[in-house]
Amino acid sequence: MRTPLIAGNWKMNGSAELIRQFGERFAQAGLPEALDITIIPPFPYLDAAQHAFEGTRLGLGAQTLNPVHSGAHTGEVSGQMLKEFGVCYVLIGHSERRQLYRETDDHVYDRTQAALSVGLTPVLCVGETLEERDAGDTMQVVLRQVGHVMARLEPAQRQQIVIAYEPVWAIGTGRTASPEQAQEVMAGIREYQAGFDTQLAAQLRLLYGGSMNAGNAAELLAQPDIDGGLVGGASLKVDDFYAICQSA
Ligand code: G3P
Repeated sequence: MRTPLIAGNWKMNGSAELIRQFGERFAQAGLPEALDITIIPPFPYLDAAQHAFEGTRLGLGAQTLNPVHSGAHTGEVSGQMLKEFGVCYVLIGHSERRQLYRETDDHVYDRTQAALSVGLTPVLCVGETLEERDAGDTMQVVLRQVGHVMARLEPAQRQQIVIAYEPVWAIGTGRTASPEQAQEVMAGIREYQAGFDTQLAAQLRLLYGGSMNAGNAAELLAQPDIDGGLVGGASLKVDDFYAICQSA
């Protein structure tokens, strides 16, 4: 049985007040017991969030990390630093980092190893562009991104990975993949993992991201190979995000 995970990627948004609202709302009961919930705020809010989320259902994640553990890397943050703030999950290779900050599959692999080396759980983000989907290349693109990391990890490392499928054309657009579209890709990712180890494939948590909201979450999360969501815009509204968590 895979424990569902709902993660809110705030991207470069948020405030101390929003942290407070989330801490207050998620201290209340009423959510499924078997559910992991994580907020992924910008780095400056990690300390406040660690304190505000204590005793609530909320865990902490980070949006990226530098593969080097310390040194002359102005502006960067290491995995060890994230651990000091109670961070458990770290996004790796989000499409915005691939597109805006030129992160390559090799960069994604290096960051995955760095996260694993300090005990963080990597959330490997993959997804195709609209052009790639229209060209019929969705699975080829997604499995290239997944395989560039998973094929190079040790078996025990593979079991630590969470994979988030986020079709680039659905991110921030309000154009959500249909449950069928998302399920098809998730099933393909799980089938690929079975090539390494059937038990790995069975336990691997696969998240969907891309305009998930309170109105469509239940249908997406009802799909057999979708184990949770990576939520952007809707994670900035505490009631919407709470409703998505109730759908899990
Ligand atoms: O990482 C999650 C994000 O990319 C999805 O954004 O706004 O489409 O839910 P959004």
